[in-house]
Amino acid sequence: MSSHAVRVVRVSAGLILLTYLTTHFLNHAFGIVSLAAMEAGRVWFLLLWRNPVATGALYGALITHALLGLWALYRRRTLRMPGWEAAQLVLGLTIPPLLTAHIVGNRLAHELYGIDDSYARVLLVFWVAAPWRGPLHAALVLIAWIHGCMGIHFWLRFRRWYPRAAVWLVGIAVAIPVLALAGFVQGGIEVTTLARTPGWVRIATPRDTSATRAALARITENVVTAYGALLALTLAARGARAAYLRRWRSVSLTYPHGRVVTVPIGFTVLEASRYAGLAHASVCGGRGRCSTCRVRIARGLDTLPPASEAERRVLRRIGAPPDVRLACQLRPAHSTEVVPLLAARDALATVLGHERQGVEQEIAVVFADLRGFTRMAEKRLPYDVVYLLNRYFEAVGSAIERAGGIANQFTGDGVMALFGVESGPEAGCRQALVAARAMIAGVDSLSRELSGDLPQPLRLGIGIHVGHAVVGRMGYGESTYFTAVGDTVHVAARLEQATKDYDCELVISEDVVTRAGFDADAFPRHEVTLRNRAAPVLVRVIDRVATLTTASGSGGAR
Ligand code: FES
Repeated sequence: MSSHAVRVVRVSAGLILLTYLTTHFLNHAFGIVSLAAMEAGRVWFLLLWRNPVATGALYGALITHALLGLWALYRRRTLRMPGWEAAQLVLGLTIPPLLTAHIVGNRLAHELYGIDDSYARVLLVFWVAAPWRGPLHAALVLIAWIHGCMGIHFWLRFRRWYPRAAVWLVGIAVAIPVLALAGFVQGGIEVTTLARTPGWVRIATPRDTSATRAALARITENVVTAYGALLALTLAARGARAAYLRRWRSVSLTYPHGRVVTVPIGFTVLEASRYAGLAHASVCGGRGRCSTCRVRIARGLDTLPPASEAERRVLRRIGAPPDVRLACQLRPAHSTEVVPLLAARDALATVLGHERQGVEQEIAVVFADLRGFTRMAEKRLPYDVVYLLNRYFEAVGSAIERAGGIANQFTGDGVMALFGVESGPEAGCRQALVAARAMIAGVDSLSRELSGDLPQPLRLGIGIHVGHAVVGRMGYGESTYFTAVGDTVHVAARLEQATKDYDCELVISEDVVTRAGFDADAFPRHEVTLRNRAAPVLVRVIDRVATLTTASGSGGAR
């Protein structure tokens, strides 16, 4: 199974477990009302989970998730890892032994001995019969929940909508266990009082005998021992593999200042840096999605394995020379000298916020530029130029905002705008086309207003492209601003320049046409070539943006 497939299975199993936990905790929360409310909620809870399908899914997910966790532990090249990763791993490994007693004492007791694992019985154990187990159970609740929430966070953190939803998700993530623990405590207090009523304990635990308790304790002990043995075996297998690789199949990497790091063959350069505790930039977390981990190969270039297509694509995109490789993708098999090209601190300083790492998403990018403005500005007084530019920026900026875009850069007489950051790429493309028409109309209206002062009407050239870009706050200190970087931005800028070649108002890529659902048959199709890009970009050339409505009919930009 590929590592991607393993991750999918692990996440799916984790989601089933988290769903179970959520419903279970909500049932606990009913204890805030009364023990009777807890028991009533449990009837629905059992209907949902104690049927053959749900039981199979739940315990299948539990075993799969635990085994894949051990497998991931075995596969890790190094146990040096960021703090959050270590916390998630340790919490995950703690869950099975804590959970075993709970499952055996309730579900298995029910299946083997017909014991009714009611809240009254369970709370009696935690609060009266074996009070030391109460805090342990509370710890289990928190550990399992935190582990699950961390998994969800790291799974979703790069989703476009996640930052907006995060505040709500954090609220839910805090509220559910707090309510569950409050219900657990309140229910426990009620049971403690009831336990003083003569005969109540026997009614609450009709089938519990010392023999069943002893048998269940034995099963718990055996399962925990088996898990401990499995964990020990996993760690021993890791150790044996590492020793074998170090002894028989290791490679030395030389870093700047003569630092030599010897690691087993199969480590990436990034893993080697982490293994040796060397700071190494890796903004995308080693997924081959940025280029911050790139290294120059000072020695041993000819011995390196060829770059994968994914790595080649990134290197091509940044125009990297042949001796530069991505550290997170490169697995040297022979001694090699590497020079990291981006200091870890610099990589983080240039990309700030949640935002600190940026979020990759599909957006529409618009570039606009005034034709011949530089020549016109040379013949005017600086204050007049400032006045004209501000009026122009007002016209195009308001047009962008009205259409739903973000005008994020005004440089010279150029404007860059992002569309679809909130609404998605399809809506973004439609909004960008609407904005283009409004920008042109705004500039035309400004030209008419200032006709007595302008040698000729202002003319705008606009380029639009859609695709993946990393969107976030960038800059330094107080001077950070929201923007996008990536190939999509370069293509949009190039399309804006192409409006000069075609002497037209608007050039849009075919991707924009498709994503906007825009009928562009009336407009000629061309190919625009780009530096560092083998395939040309297919575009539509629109002489007069005002014709968009009539030419595009009902499917056009409105
Ligand atoms: S860490 Fe992003 S490409 Fe290597």
